[in-house]
Amino acid sequence: MNTIIRKQISIHPEVMDLLNKQIAMEMHASAAYLAMASWCDQRELLNSKELFYKQAEEEREHAMKFFTFINDNGGAAISPSIDSVNNDFESLKAIYEKSLDQEIAVSDSIKKIFKKARTEDDFVTEVFLQWFITEQAEEEDKFRSIIDIFDLMEGMPLKMIDERIPTE
Ligand code: FEO
Repeated sequence: MNTIIRKQISIHPEVMDLLNKQIAMEMHASAAYLAMASWCDQRELLNSKELFYKQAEEEREHAMKFFTFINDNGGAAISPSIDSVNNDFESLKAIYEKSLDQEIAVSDSIKKIFKKARTEDDFVTEVFLQWFITEQAEEEDKFRSIIDIFDLMEGMPLKMIDERIPTE
C-alpha cells in the first residue's frame, strides 16, 4: 500500500478544482478588503476602517476553511497566487458598492460549486457548503444595509455617515 496517500479522497475531482478556485477568490477578497481598509484608515473613517480590517480577516478565515476541508478529505489544497488588487477608490460609497458586488460574485461562485457537488453526489461538499450559503446571504444583507445609510444620509458630512456604519 502506498503510505503517502493517507486517506481516500471523498471530494469529486471536478468539485475539488472549483474549491481550489474558491480559495483564490476568498484570498483575493481578503486582499481587496485590506486595500479598502487602508483607504479608510488614511482618511480616519474609523468605523469603515474597522469593518474592512475585520472583513479582510474573515475572508482569510473563509479561505482557510476551504483549504483545510480539501486536505482533511484526502484532496490537495493549493496555495493561490492573488490577482492584482485595486487600491484607488473614488468614494466611500463606491467602496461599499464594490464590496456588495464582490459578495454577490462570491455567493454565485459558491452556489455553482454547491450545484456541481449535488450533480456529482458529492454529499460531503454539499453539507460543508451549507454554512457558506447562509454566511453569504448575511454578508450581502450587511452591505445592502450600509448602502441604504448613504442614500438616507445623502448630503451629510462623510464622517457623520461613517459613524452610523456598524463595524460588525
Ligand atoms: Fe468569503 Fe464574503 O466571501
